[in-house]
Amino acid sequence: MDGCLSSQRPGCLGEAQHTPGGWLDADKKRPFQEDGPRGPPRDSPEREPSLQSLQTFVPTDYTSYTQENYLYAGKKIVIQESIESYGAMVWPGATALCQYLEEHTEELNLQNAKILEIGAGPGLVSIVASILGAQVTATDLPDVLGNLQHNLLKNTLKCAAHLPDVKALVWGEDLEKHFPKSTCYYDYVVASDVVYHHYFLDKLLTTMVYFSQPGTVLLWANKFRFSTDYEFLDKFKQVFDTTLLAECSESSCKIFKGILKWD
Ligand SMILES: C[S@@+](CC[C@H](N)C(=O)[O-])C[C@H]1O[C@@H](n2cnc3c(N)ncnc32)[C@H](O)[C@@H]1O
Repeated sequence: MDGCLSSQRPGCLGEAQHTPGGWLDADKKRPFQEDGPRGPPRDSPEREPSLQSLQTFVPTDYTSYTQENYLYAGKKIVIQESIESYGAMVWPGATALCQYLEEHTEELNLQNAKILEIGAGPGLVSIVASILGAQVTATDLPDVLGNLQHNLLKNTLKCAAHLPDVKALVWGEDLEKHFPKSTCYYDYVVASDVVYHHYFLDKLLTTMVYFSQPGTVLLWANKFRFSTDYEFLDKFKQVFDTTLLAECSESSCKIFKGILKWD
């Protein structure tokens, strides 16, 4: 197991990344966590529990868009973010996973590897995996795909051997129809900060299991905040042989490797 992920994200640009504590602070400053003027984003369980409501996010306040700069794999990555949706912001699990991918590219054999990202949000992990040589399919709820596509294209067009695909994937919904097992095989399924206080944890686990075929490795990075996060981890461990790859006690981020138990 690696040591603690550095709390100073190396080489990262932008305001939050220069403060002591680096990417930890980037998470702390998020306005919706303080229940700012607009209240929780639209996919917050405090606002609306229904899946339908999760799919109706349309940015209404374009002044809420910001651009954040990151540096991974020697490339400056510019991410368009918005405070209006959980899926339009980079979360701490994403930066932790990007750092891990960057530092273990050869060991993970990422060149030409087929990677599926679930809950990709604004796409940082998919972008970094693409720049590192992987063939990536980035997925999320339909309403955040526009911003995801924008970020992916902007950051990979000139520097990735394989341009990433973007597809809608609602956890646990019509998986065989949209991702038939006969044609969809992934070396890695990656996910960052997909476990938090929401109503779709069982469907998330079902989705992780669905995409885990023989040889598939799941890389899941998450900031652990709530008791429900640990409850999910317990369920995860029941179905996946689980290895803790890296953790940062300061930020409570952990990265797990999961291989589906077949017996
Ligand atoms: C906390 S954000 C994390 C985004 C990104 N992975 C990151 O770490 O920066 C959770 C992501 O999961 C997506 N998500 C939430 N519920 C979902 C569902 N039922 N099906 C598919 N994606 C979902 C959200 O749209 C969002 O992009």
